[in-house]
Amino acid sequence: MKIIRAKDYDDMSRKAANVLAAQVLLKPDSVLGLATGSSPLGMYQQLIERCKKGDISFAKVVSINLDEYAGLAPEHPQSYRYFMDHNLFNHIDIPPASTHLPNGLAEDATGECERYEALIASHGGIDMQLLGLGNNGHIGFNEPGGSFEKATHKVQLTESTIDANKRFFDSLDEVPRYAYTMGIRAIMQARRVLLVVAGSQKAQIVREAFFGPVTPEVPASILQLHGDVTLVGDEEAFSLI
Ligand code: F6R
Repeated sequence: MKIIRAKDYDDMSRKAANVLAAQVLLKPDSVLGLATGSSPLGMYQQLIERCKKGDISFAKVVSINLDEYAGLAPEHPQSYRYFMDHNLFNHIDIPPASTHLPNGLAEDATGECERYEALIASHGGIDMQLLGLGNNGHIGFNEPGGSFEKATHKVQLTESTIDANKRFFDSLDEVPRYAYTMGIRAIMQARRVLLVVAGSQKAQIVREAFFGPVTPEVPASILQLHGDVTLVGDEEAFSLI
C-alpha cells in the first residue's frame, strides 16, 4: 500500500487529483469506479479545473459509480446520481451515456444487481476504483459483518451509516434505509484502488482498517490484500498511524 500524507483537506484533494489525473492521462479510456461523499468533493473540484484548462480529458472515460440509495429518483437532490452530475459530470467533458450508477428506482432488485455486474464485466472491469472510508469501516455500502465475496447487492444500511448520512437530509426519517452497492469482489478486482480520507473522525478507523486484522467486521481491511492501493489522507486522519 502506498501512503501519501497531505497537510489538510485541500492538500489531500490536490494530491488525490494528481493520482486520478495521471491514470486518465496514461489511459484516456480508463474505466473509473467513482464515489460520492465529502471526501472526494475537493478532488472533483480539482479535476474540473484541470479539465477546463485542457490538462486532462474525460471524453473517453467510462465511470461506474459504487452505489446509490434505493428508493431515490435520479433528480432527488440527495441521490448519488444528482451528486455526481452536479459535483463532477456536468462540469467535465465525459459523455453522459458513459456515466453509470445503480438505478435507485429499480423494481426488480435482483435484476438490477445482475445488470450492474454485467455492466462492469462488459467494460472489462475497473481500472481505478476511488473509495472513501465510512466511520464504521465500510467501503461503498459494504457494511460491517457482510461477506467479502459479495457481488453488487441491495443492502440494509446500519444505524451508524444512517446517522452519518442524516446531515444531508431534513430529518432522520428521510434517510433511505436501503442502498445498492458494488460488492467487495468488484472492488478487489479493480486494477488500482485510490482511497481518500480526511479529518480526525476517521483516525481510529484508518488505524483499524489498514493496521489491524483483516476482518469482515471492518470491510476496508480487505484492501490490505489488494496489490495496488494508494491511500491519500490528511494529518488528522493519519494522526494514529
Ligand atoms: C460513497 C460511499 C461511502 C463513502 C463513505 C465516506 O459513494 O460509497 O462509502 O465513501 O461513507 O463518506 P464521506 O466521504 O462523506 O466521509
